[in-house]
Amino acid sequence: MITVITGASSGIGAAAAEALARAGHDVVLVGRSRAKLNAVADRIARASGRRPDTATADFASFEEVTRLAADLLDRYPRIDVLANNAGVMSTRKRLTRDGHELMAQVNHLSPFLLTNLLLDRVRRSGGRVITTSSRAARSGRLDPSDLDRSRRRWSAWLQYGDTKQANALFTTALARRGVAATCFHPGVIRTDFAPDSFFMKLLMVLPGTARTPEEGARTLVHLATTGDGAKHPGRFFVDSAPASAPKSMSDPALAAALWDVSLSLTGLSAGEKI
Ligand SMILES: NC(=O)c1ccc[n+]([C@@H]2O[C@H](COP(=O)([O-])OP(=O)(O)OC[C@H]3O[C@@H](n4cnc5c(N)ncnc54)[C@H](OP(=O)(O)O)[C@@H]3O)[C@@H](O)[C@H]2O)c1
Repeated sequence: MITVITGASSGIGAAAAEALARAGHDVVLVGRSRAKLNAVADRIARASGRRPDTATADFASFEEVTRLAADLLDRYPRIDVLANNAGVMSTRKRLTRDGHELMAQVNHLSPFLLTNLLLDRVRRSGGRVITTSSRAARSGRLDPSDLDRSRRRWSAWLQYGDTKQANALFTTALARRGVAATCFHPGVIRTDFAPDSFFMKLLMVLPGTARTPEEGARTLVHLATTGDGAKHPGRFFVDSAPASAPKSMSDPALAAALWDVSLSLTGLSAGEKI
């Protein structure tokens, strides 16, 4: 089983990679820092006896994500699991060199681009796509014509919620194309996530609230290793079980509009790779 995990240099992604390596998967760790990836790969090799491969790309750059996809296609004749887990919550509004709001690009547009470039390989492998969304998706107010919130009020949590709603809608759209795609909320997890956020700092000190990265990785590992990852296309999971979600996270018209605008913003022409 070739399992590609983005955002594998820390937190939930690194913990999931270790659990999957222990379960016998050939894991490919994707991150933007070679030094951090090597440290995680060394740790997993000691723990599991299997040293994962690594691949780098900064998701704030479409050029790097495109190069990553070509590299993965070159190296792996099959991809059984693609785990889109990399994500960021920025308390400041920042633009990428491609001109997009940082969270819109790192959390949605780049995973959209990577998945589409790898989709034929995943399909031919009978593989699955798993995306780390969040409970924050429930409060998303995504507008496909304003993914960067340049016309509407921008706040860090509003924008983060939109991008996590986009993860769920992308999962819906993939499922409608016959892909075994699911997404999940990992819980409130003690990782390097949102270190500048007062709200996250508060959650971290509230007794009994924050869980470990290993606990956060459990649903990802469940979806990668059990029939649930294939039997419930389009579903949002919490604690390794399908969960109810508002219509805004699975609305087919909204999912289709997001797909079309994402094709255009990432430079993938309409109709390609679908
Ligand atoms: N922690 C929580 O409570 C929580 C709750 C709900 C959902 N989530 C989601 O869980 C996922 C994993 O987050 P985490 O909690 O494990 O946090 P984390 O420890 O900060 O891990 C985030 C991962 O994403 C990578 N990443 C960030 N920006 C990137 C970029 N520009 N290019 C490439 N990779 C980038 C990070 O790489 P570096 O190591 O180089 O920074 C890291 O590997 C995210 O999608 C997040 O939205 C987390």
